[in-house]
Amino acid sequence: MKWYMLILTKLMIIVCLISEGFQNKLIFSITSAIKEINLHTREITDLLIDIESNVHSMDYDYTNKYIYFAREDKDDISRFRYPPNQANTYTTVTDADRPISVAIDPVYNHVYWTERNTGKIYRCNFDGANKTEILQDGKVYALTLDHRNRWLYYSTNNKINNSIRRSRLDGSGKQTLVSVHPQLVTGLSIDFDEDRLFWMEYGNGNLKSIYFDGSNVSIVISTNTTNGNGDIDVHGSTIYCSNDLNVLIVEVLPITTANVIHTERGRILGVLYYEEKRKFIHENVRL
Ligand SMILES: *[C@@H]1O[C@H](CO)[C@@H](O)[C@H](O)[C@H]1NC(C)=O
Ligand SMILES: *[C@@H]1O[C@H](CO)[C@@H](O)[C@H](O)[C@H]1NC(C)=O
Ligand SMILES: *[C@@H]1O[C@H](CO)[C@@H](O)[C@H](O)[C@H]1NC(C)=O
Ligand SMILES: *[C@@H]1O[C@H](CO)[C@@H](O)[C@H](O)[C@H]1NC(C)=O
Repeated sequence: MKWYMLILTKLMIIVCLISEGFQNKLIFSITSAIKEINLHTREITDLLIDIESNVHSMDYDYTNKYIYFAREDKDDISRFRYPPNQANTYTTVTDADRPISVAIDPVYNHVYWTERNTGKIYRCNFDGANKTEILQDGKVYALTLDHRNRWLYYSTNNKINNSIRRSRLDGSGKQTLVSVHPQLVTGLSIDFDEDRLFWMEYGNGNLKSIYFDGSNVSIVISTNTTNGNGDIDVHGSTIYCSNDLNVLIVEVLPITTANVIHTERGRILGVLYYEEKRKFIHENVRL
């Protein structure tokens, strides 16, 4: 009976936590700072205020509890503890050349990033060791990682045939998924419930989706903003978007809606959804 009681206790804890409400957060970056929005209370908190760089992308390591981010103007990948424990500080993980987008592989404990000018994708271990070039493809920008099916999705920015491409995690098997020319894709993210890839187009603000096999390209919404669109992060049927001075929340179900949840004085660059429940389950429910 002992294992049964254990499960029951854990389930009770989860039920209690759900009824209290998880404090899910939306982390976002502006020039030189990273902040969070408590999605429950809408309270805004500064996380880091001295980054000295634009940060266009962040990703979270749920196992070791670090947010990784690309410091484009300081040529490195850095990380900080999240949720923060004491004084908020960050440390540099590895050097990089104008890094734009980062993506975590939670299966092999790697961080991947794109370099906008060299056109390269690299990866290293979570602690920065073993930096390895994965591929080179003209000029590259956005990046996301499908850890279930083991693909990297990235956008190219070569001024001739901008597209969304994919490769295996070692850089092999490059394929073009869809041409987006002349648009530049600045955000890529995956809805794992529906096996759909979402992307944001910088120039016209179109948020679009496609199936992994390249079929069914759909326009989800347009932000109607010219040259002011950035990163996206998908969580189920909800998509968070950086849209000029605003953080937008786009709900796809039951009907598609778009609403501003926060406005800043400067451009919103990166967005990252943080799910407290997932962290909790990660820590406690290894039955
Ligand atoms: C370093 O990377 C290479 C190539 O990806 C891999 O074969 C090797 O196992 C890695 N070593 C460590 C210590 O991670
Ligand atoms: C399109 O881009 C790829 C690299 O992503 C390049 O190899 C190819 O030559 C380009 N095609 C044209 C027509 O420019
Ligand atoms: C294509 O995607 C739309 C949503 O964008 C969905 O409503 C529709 O069912 C999909 N079509 C197919 C054939 O899967
Ligand atoms: C963009 O404009 C279209 C057409 O006017 C409108 O339906 C849509 O709601 C607008 N999008 C946003 C995010 O406001």
